[in-house]
Amino acid sequence: MSRNELKHIAFIMDGNGRWAKSNGLPRHLGHKKGCENLIPIYEECYKKGIKVMSLYAFSTENWSRPKREINHLFAYLKIFFKKELKRLVKDQTKVMVSGDISLLPIKTQEVINDAIEKTKDFTNFTFNICLNYGGQMEIVRACKLIVEDIRNNKINIDDINVKSFNNYLYTKDLPPVDLLIRTGGDQRISNYLLWQLVYSELMFVKSPWPIFSKEELNECIDKFYGVERRFGGLINEEKQ
Ligand code: FPP
Repeated sequence: MSRNELKHIAFIMDGNGRWAKSNGLPRHLGHKKGCENLIPIYEECYKKGIKVMSLYAFSTENWSRPKREINHLFAYLKIFFKKELKRLVKDQTKVMVSGDISLLPIKTQEVINDAIEKTKDFTNFTFNICLNYGGQMEIVRACKLIVEDIRNNKINIDDINVKSFNNYLYTKDLPPVDLLIRTGGDQRISNYLLWQLVYSELMFVKSPWPIFSKEELNECIDKFYGVERRFGGLINEEKQ
């Protein structure tokens, strides 16, 4: 059996609010602690030779939360990039966003756009932040872009297939997700990377994101390497 390749790992960083509550803190401090936990997990992924890390930072559905919590979250994102950009540049990590950030506070947009600009040529690792992102929205957006290209005679209907459709997604330059980890105990996809998760291994861990540890990450990675991934085909013995 050839060794599985773990190029792209995606996280649903759930459980921040519950972690805060169980520690007698306001919910937004769960997001703060969650931001602080990003770097050790990123460093471990980087060290393990993973190439892409996708993070569900804010979904299209998260706008229904209290404004105060949303504003705190965007402020923490801004602080994260102000503090960590130097490290990302040193690591030659490319920052990219999947989603529409035009509705975020202007200062947060500026800091994120600055990080994208300063890291755009790097190829060591990709830090893909899914921000104001929804999987269904991404697929609808791709359809609209395709219709536009057909109208402008850039492509024909016959040019549309799985491979070319992929080029209309935010993640067009990324490999598909190999491993999805959701923290916080729930077992749902929550409108995350619906197209890209096509053959991902899905792992759900009980720990909330703020205290999800490198050890737990490594347990998931070890489990991933132990799985026989068939991508809809058969394993060798079954073919005989
Ligand atoms: C879900 O927890 C988490 C979020 C809605 C936001 C997660 C975002 C971060 C940790 C910041 C990411 C920052 C960067 C730079 C990528 P929840 O509050 O819904 O948890 P609950 O289920 O316990 O309420």
